[in-house]
Amino acid sequence: MKAEQLFSVLSVSPEDTENAGKKVAEIISGYIVTGDYPTVALYGDLGAGKTCFVRGLADVLTPGAPVKSPTYTVVNEYPGNPSLFHFDMYRIESEDDLYSIGFEDYPERGISVIEWSEKIPYALPREYIRVTIDKISDTERNITAEKIKI
Ligand SMILES: Nc1ncnc2c1ncn2[C@@H]1O[C@H](COP(=O)(O)OP(=O)(O)OP(=O)(O)O)[C@@H](O)[C@H]1O
Ligand SMILES: [Mg+2]
Repeated sequence: MKAEQLFSVLSVSPEDTENAGKKVAEIISGYIVTGDYPTVALYGDLGAGKTCFVRGLADVLTPGAPVKSPTYTVVNEYPGNPSLFHFDMYRIESEDDLYSIGFEDYPERGISVIEWSEKIPYALPREYIRVTIDKISDTERNITAEKIKI
């Protein structure tokens, strides 16, 4: 596995975290060519700010889309050109669960951003953007974005 760091920032507010999402959106906009669309895999504890980050990402990729946590539905679609698929894998326990939502079909349909990527290490594509959000206090987060190639 090769990991190339894209950026690392200290966020001190939800707005800073949204801005990190916007920055990743701008970076992956440059990756949209033919074939599968990019995947952004998010890592971070409960309340780290993953959904907040997706709000910034969607603001650039699918402006106006109402971002809300897909905890119960597993995936929300924000229509656009291409669409953005917002996953929350918190409740996914097996490859069968993933199969039942047709996860393997999404990369050709649009950009994917995945909360709780920790749950599906075996299902990530060969190339993706890894975003790690570390909660260092009530209001501070360390956010690192890397380009991963297996
Ligand atoms: N610097 C910060 N960045 C992001 N969120 C922050 C920050 N400081 C405080 N917060 C608060 O942390 C919470 C983050 O919530 P959010 O739903 O984005 O987290 P999450 O990682 O998606 O959680 P879950 O694991 O439940 O999906 C919000 O209540 C937000 O106001
Ligand atoms: Mg969330």
